[in-house]
Amino acid sequence: MLTVTTQEILADLPDSVKLRQIDIETLQGARGFIFDRLDLITTSFYDILFGFEKTEAVFREGERSAREASFKHWVELTLTKEINQEYWEWQTYVGLIHVKRGIKNDIFVRMLNYVTELLVAEVVNNVPKEQAVPILIAWLRLSSTVSALIVQGYEQFYHQAIEGMTGIDEQLLDRLVAVEIDDMVAANQQYRM
Ligand code: HEM
Repeated sequence: MLTVTTQEILADLPDSVKLRQIDIETLQGARGFIFDRLDLITTSFYDILFGFEKTEAVFREGERSAREASFKHWVELTLTKEINQEYWEWQTYVGLIHVKRGIKNDIFVRMLNYVTELLVAEVVNNVPKEQAVPILIAWLRLSSTVSALIVQGYEQFYHQAIEGMTGIDEQLLDRLVAVEIDDMVAANQQYRM
């Protein structure tokens, strides 16, 4: 199931914005630099999630160290593993596991971008411009592809769950939603430019 979902999501992205081999090599070449900062990034990431009531509520008692370990493991594998279909499928699975815990796209994507913020500051402040630009472009191509799988995977899982429960397939659901969206657009014309 995750194989097809992942392939369909990736197929919707134009080749010109996909992660390239050169990006993978650049990122893996920068792995030492990123690993040196991984403890700091991880602590900052979870300080935010555990310091905000709504996100803290998602976690179980005593879960922080396990979550820090899985986040570090994710970064380590991302910067050492071959980036292939299997890697992307794993990202779709990571999305699914977050859906199970009630973590929505808004917070997942925002926090992935927070990692990007930390990385931008570290790279810009410590790496010569000729190397900094390709590293940051490579990271953005990677992390935004992960975001695409998380966000689009979320929608697919909802469709598949609804179809499994009610027999309403994706095409019918899309048509039903389209009718409602038309009504919502009509009701919100004051925002039209
Ligand atoms: C940069 C964004 C994120 C990445 C890369 C990430 C990565 C991961 C990974 C790799 C796992 C382990 C999956 C497994 O067991 O196979 C995990 C689990 C988990 N993450 Fe995240 N995560 C992110 C954002 C978040 C956010 C924003 C929250 C909470 C608001 C969160 C809460 C959790 C929880 C509760 C689990 C345990 C899921 C379970 O096994 O029940 N994560 N995450």
